[in-house]
Amino acid sequence: MASANAREAFRQFTTGVSLVTTRGRGGDNVMAAEWTFHVSYDPFLISVHIRPGKATHTAIEESQEFGVNLVSEDQVNAMSFAGHFTGNEVDKFSSDLFDTYPAEKIGAPMIREALLNAECRIVQQVPMGDHTAFIGEVIAFSVDGSKGPVILHGGARTAGEMIARGHVVAVASTPSTVAPGDRVLVTGELMMNDRASRTIEVMIVDPQGVEQASAEAATERDSRFRVELQLPGNASKGAYRVLAHHEGVQGSARLQVSA
Ligand SMILES: Cc1cc2nc3c(=O)[nH]c(=O)nc-3n(C[C@H](O)[C@H](O)[C@H](O)COP(=O)(O)O)c2cc1C
Repeated sequence: MASANAREAFRQFTTGVSLVTTRGRGGDNVMAAEWTFHVSYDPFLISVHIRPGKATHTAIEESQEFGVNLVSEDQVNAMSFAGHFTGNEVDKFSSDLFDTYPAEKIGAPMIREALLNAECRIVQQVPMGDHTAFIGEVIAFSVDGSKGPVILHGGARTAGEMIARGHVVAVASTPSTVAPGDRVLVTGELMMNDRASRTIEVMIVDPQGVEQASAEAATERDSRFRVELQLPGNASKGAYRVLAHHEGVQGSARLQVSA
């Protein structure tokens, strides 16, 4: 049994939730699974993590298939019900909470009003602590972009506003420790809400704040920039700084010059 401290730690994670549907020898079933993750683009893989002994665990082992129905904000009650009763005792699909339709490629029914309906065929089963990871390849799916998700973080929530990016420059020097005369790769990102190309002035200043090298860089896709600068061969040792500016917005990184 996890300690109260550990339970508090678990509550800090943020997840979505799915309704995992199955058709096993005992019939059709549905459970709530917050540990539902998209884990590969190509192939399109989804991993669900189910505790051994659950009716869903048995049914996935029997059928080698499962359905993922990502819970929308209209489905909180269905989520709770599916997560608080077991198919070992209760026919959850007899409830009017679930509006189902036949899947195209798997036996288990799918649930309407979800954000994503994905029909999965098992490609791997991995024991993981007190759960089993069932990794399924998505063999059919459909998306309903009109609804918001249920987000679990200390209770069930809806998604809030997009975070407005703070207007800053993030910058790094690589390597962060160099010798006089070395080349330094300066990379960074201009955090803005639009992604138009902009000019970034980059410079390396010595411990007294005197400029030792400079260049201009243009931001590329995703607002990133990169430029190489060379330190003078006679640069003294010490703690330098890499500065990147764009119209009054500045970022900085450390650069140690040693022998
Ligand atoms: C919101 C929510 C999320 C849950 N997430 C998981 C999960 O990711 N994995 C898991 O094994 N159980 C999870 N559970 C618990 C199962 O849904 C629960 O044990 C259920 O009764 C299992 O049903 P079954 O025996 O019919 O398969 C969750 C429960 C709730 C309410």
